[in-house]
Amino acid sequence: MSPFLLTRTLPEDTTGAALRADVLTGLTRVPKELPPRWFYDARGSELFEEITRLPEYYPTRAEREILIREAPGIAALTGARTLVELGSGSSEKTRHLLDALPGLESYVPVDVSESALRGAAGALLEERPGLRIHALIADFTALTELPDSPGPRLLVFLGGTIGNLLPAERARFLRGVRRLVDPGDALLLGTDLVKDEETLVRAYDDAAGVTADFNRNVLRVLARELGADADLADFDHVALWDRENEWIEMRLRARTAVTVKIPELNLVVPFEAGEELRTEVSAKFRREGVRRELAGAGWEPAEWWTDTEGRFALSLARAV
Ligand code: SAH
Ligand code: AVI
Repeated sequence: MSPFLLTRTLPEDTTGAALRADVLTGLTRVPKELPPRWFYDARGSELFEEITRLPEYYPTRAEREILIREAPGIAALTGARTLVELGSGSSEKTRHLLDALPGLESYVPVDVSESALRGAAGALLEERPGLRIHALIADFTALTELPDSPGPRLLVFLGGTIGNLLPAERARFLRGVRRLVDPGDALLLGTDLVKDEETLVRAYDDAAGVTADFNRNVLRVLARELGADADLADFDHVALWDRENEWIEMRLRARTAVTVKIPELNLVVPFEAGEELRTEVSAKFRREGVRRELAGAGWEPAEWWTDTEGRFALSLARAV
C-alpha cells in the first residue's frame, strides 16, 4: 500500500455550502461574525506559519519547548502506534513526537487546508519513508470516524487551536473526539494560558503587520469564493483582550461606511463607519478550567506540563 493517502471527507461542495451558510448567517446578524476556519486557504496557512516565527507570537515557541522536553515521557505513557493530529497545519512541532514514538506506524493529519496537508506530508514522507501517512481534509468539529489504524491511538490538538472554538463548541468538540477513540487512548491538548494583557495583545497585533494581513485574508477568501468586492484597505485589524471571557478577539473594523456586495449570495452587506466583524476568538485557559472541560467530555486528565515561563500548557488525558 502507498505510504501516503489523502482522503477528502468534505466534498468541495460541502465546503462551499458551509462557507455560504456561515457568511449568510454571520454577515446579516448584529454584531457581524465569521468563524476562523475561513482564514486558512493556501495563503492563510502560509501567513499563519509566518505568525509562528514572529517575535511577539510566543505560543509556538512555548509549546515546542514543552514538546521537546516531554516527548519521551508522552511516548512512554501512551505507547502510541497511531498519531492523529487535528488542525495539523505544517506538522512542524509534531516532528518531536514522531521522533520520540518508537512504535509509531501511522500518522493521520487532519486539516481543512489541503495545501498545508500536502506540504506537511511531502516533507515527512521524504524524511520518514517507513511512516504510513493518511491525511484527511476534514472539519475537525464534524469528524465521525477515523481511518482504520492500529491502537493505541494518540490524538493531538496543538497550538491552542481549541481556544478558537467558543465554549459550547469546545464541549461538543471534546465529546465528539472522545467518541473517535477507545478507552485507554490518549489526547494531548495544547492550551495558551491567561497572562498579562500587553503580552497577549502584542501577540495578536504584531509590529510587522503579519497578523493584520492574516485577519484580512478572510476578505480575500470571500472575494475568490463568493465574488465579494470588499476592499482590504477599507478595514482595520483590531485585536483586543476580553477580560470577562478571557479571550482575545480579532475583528475587522470598517474605516468608513462601506458596502460589500456578495453576488454569489445575492447579498449586500452594509457596514457603518467603525462597525466591526468578529473573525476569531482565541481563548486563554487556566489549569482548573482545562481539567473541568476535559473531565466533562469523558477524558481523564493525567498530566499537565507548562513551559518554563508558564505561558502555555500541554495536557495529557485518557479516554475513559
Ligand atoms: N497545529 C498547528 C497549526 C495551528 S493553525 C500549530 O500548532 O502550529 C490552525 C490549523 O487548524 C490550520 O492549519 C487550519 O487550517 C486548521 N483548522 C482551522 N479550523 C479547522 C477546522 N474546523 N477543521 C480542520 N482544520 C481546521
Ligand atoms: C491557530 N490558533 C491557535 C491561532 C491563535 O493564536 O489563536 C490563530 C491565530 N490568530 C492570530 N494569530 C494566530
